[in-house]
This record gives sequence, structure tokens and C-alpha cells, in this order.
Amino acid sequence: MELMELLEGRRTYRRFYQKEISEEITGEILRAARLSSSAANKQPLSYVVIRSADKVNQVFDCTRWAGYLKPEDGQPGEDEKPVLFIAVVENLNINPDCDTDAGLAIANMTLAAWNRGVGSCIIGACNKPRLSEMFGLTEEQKLHTVVAFGYPSHKSRIEGVKDGDIRYYLDENRDYVVPKRQLEDVVTYM
Ligand SMILES: Cc1cc2nc3c(=O)[nH]c(=O)nc-3n(C[C@H](O)[C@H](O)[C@H](O)COP(=O)(O)O)c2cc1C
Repeated sequence: MELMELLEGRRTYRRFYQKEISEEITGEILRAARLSSSAANKQPLSYVVIRSADKVNQVFDCTRWAGYLKPEDGQPGEDEKPVLFIAVVENLNINPDCDTDAGLAIANMTLAAWNRGVGSCIIGACNKPRLSEMFGLTEEQKLHTVVAFGYPSHKSRIEGVKDGDIRYYLDENRDYVVPKRQLEDVVTYM
């Protein structure tokens, strides 16, 4: 895919077909994370891959989806759940200030996934204490986010922000519409 086309399609997806993601693609997503830039090349991030149906369900139960929508619209249904989660863990003993590293790794992972037709949703709103316990994290390990993956069963498109309203919504086909601010509103040339 051409890069700008890839970036445009790499939206947040919240409903998925129950089709497995191959080990090859999962490996590619993780290799993309490894390739990301890191402040002082400290590489403070590690990853927990959750792929067994049982564990995926347990992680799913700790996540919250689409805060702007009613649960029946935003929360994936029983047969729409993601099939894979990758948790991004910050090892604070290596670098206590590594949120930018985490963002870059997540961007690489979600792009690599979309390059193979796999959609994703970054989840910050999750029960971090419960998940940290489930993943066996130590005191020096901080759960940054979990990223959900699956083959999307809906579309998502962007439009310009109208009247300052940045809330995404579902259209008549239950596809997501995501308002983005116009460049002229966020860019200054000097
Ligand atoms: C740091 C971060 C945390 C997020 N947390 C959640 C979340 O907990 N639940 C959710 O449904 N979406 C979450 N999202 C997805 C955003 O809602 C989504 O990126 C935004 O609406 C823009 O849509 P787009 O990704 O298609 O551009 C998160 C995104 C980011 C970058």
C-alpha cells in the first residue's frame, strides 16, 4: 500500500471478525515495534502477547471502548471481540520517562498490522492494576496500554471537525466517522 493510503486507512477499529491472526503477522507486528526509535536508544519497552481465546477474554473484560458512544454502539459485541492483544510495558528502571517511546512503538505496530489488513484499537481505559497482576508485572514495570487487534468488520473514515465537535460517531451503516481538525487550524508557518 502507498504510505499515505496506509495512514488514512489505519484508523481505530472496534468490531472484528473472529478470524485468527497468523503467527507470521503477529511476528511482523512485534518486529515493527522493535524497529521503533527510542530516546538514547535505551529501549525500555517490553510486550506481553495475549492470543489464547481464554486470556483474550480475560483482558477484554478489563477494557473500555468508545467513550463517546453508548455501550451498545461502542463496545464490541460477543462475536465482535478482538482476537489478539499486545500489552505495552514500560520498564521504569531502564527509563522512567518513556511515554514517547511507547507511542512510537504503538504507531509502528498498528501500521504494520494495517499493512496486512489487521485493524487495531489502542486501549488506555483499562483496569491497569488487574491487568498488571495478570501479566505478572513487577513494581518497576508500568503498563502503558493494551492494543487490540483483529480483522475489522466495519469501516472508518475521517471528516473535517464541524463546530469544534471532535467526537467520533457511527453513520447509518454503523461505520465510524472520525472528525479531524483541519491543517490550517493546527499548523503555523514562520
Ligand atoms: C493513547 C490512546 C488511548 C486510547 N484509549 C482508547 C480506549 O481506551 N478505548 C477506545 O475505544 N479507544 C481508545 N483510543 C482510540 C481513540 O479513541 C482514537 O484514536 C480516536 O478516536 C481517533 O480515531 P482514529 O484512531 O481512527 O484516528 C485511544 C487512542 C490513544 C492514542
